[in-house]
Amino acid sequence: MSDLKTILQEATGALTEVMTMSDLEQTKARFLGKSGSLTEQLKALGKLSPEEKKTAGAAINEVKQQVEALINDAKNRILNAELEAKLAAEAIDVTLPGRTSGLGGLHPVTRCLERIEALFATMGFAVADGPEIETDYYCFTALNTPPNHPARSMQDTFYVLNSENLLRSHTSPVQIRYMEAHQPPLRIICPGRVYRCDHDATHSPMFHQIEGLWIDEGISLADLKGTLTQFFRAFFERDDMQIRFRPSFFPFVEPGVEVDIEWENKGGKIKWLEIGGAGVVHPQVLRNGGIDPEKYSGFAFGMGLDRLTMLKYGVNDLRLFFENDIKFLAQFR
Ligand code: DAH
Repeated sequence: MSDLKTILQEATGALTEVMTMSDLEQTKARFLGKSGSLTEQLKALGKLSPEEKKTAGAAINEVKQQVEALINDAKNRILNAELEAKLAAEAIDVTLPGRTSGLGGLHPVTRCLERIEALFATMGFAVADGPEIETDYYCFTALNTPPNHPARSMQDTFYVLNSENLLRSHTSPVQIRYMEAHQPPLRIICPGRVYRCDHDATHSPMFHQIEGLWIDEGISLADLKGTLTQFFRAFFERDDMQIRFRPSFFPFVEPGVEVDIEWENKGGKIKWLEIGGAGVVHPQVLRNGGIDPEKYSGFAFGMGLDRLTMLKYGVNDLRLFFENDIKFLAQFR
């Protein structure tokens, strides 16, 4: 009997201390396994008389049940502790900032272009496109600027050696390409990249222009003035903005003008900013495009898209647009 008491004491001590399931298995085997101390007690019953067997057997079984209950308690305790540990390790800190994928945005020049296209669309202009690698013919000759014409030196570009090809120095060649493919009435703008041998704060070897062309019966310089005035006022959101047209020379127009916008007006003293060239399309240019100048007339203009974007957003260095510095670009998102 005193053996049973010791066994119960030992079991209670051991089972309240076990920390892992494998320790528990071993402890369980120590008492209830094949040669466990309680099993040995049961085996020993055989040697006793029937009377003794009865009381001893009942006592052993009671202890056995107590030990089994202790094992069960220990098992629950261990499983709970394991679960707690697992939950603590996997805990989510809901106060941490989330992982977002950075949201991109449109380049300021693209933003302005989309706005310009939308504004001209309200006046019935479609958007046309042309190649950046042009032939000498479309870039100059067909625009009434034959080889050796001094106006060619105003647009020094990149020529492809031993070839008729060059990087277009303006978007005006699209005028000819579009006239060749369509008959009037024509009303287009053509935005795109152009190239020149220039590089400083306000000039880049690659920049963007927007060409415009409107050809129909009876189109005149007055239509040019009205269209551009309306456009600039809408683009800069200034209904009273003054636009100035100064006589100028471009071989593909007659008359030709340079277009200035009012940038600052201090008590009537206006600071003008040149924004593009324009004019009434030269009859020879219409003929080169397959259009009869006796029947049709029209105007054309070309302006700098990057320049317009600089003015719109108050950016003072053109190169910022092409450096791809995210800190600069993100301001326009
Ligand atoms: N192509 C000219 C340039 O890049 C700008 C220009 C002037 C375009 C007059 C035109 C125009 O369409 O009519 O300097």
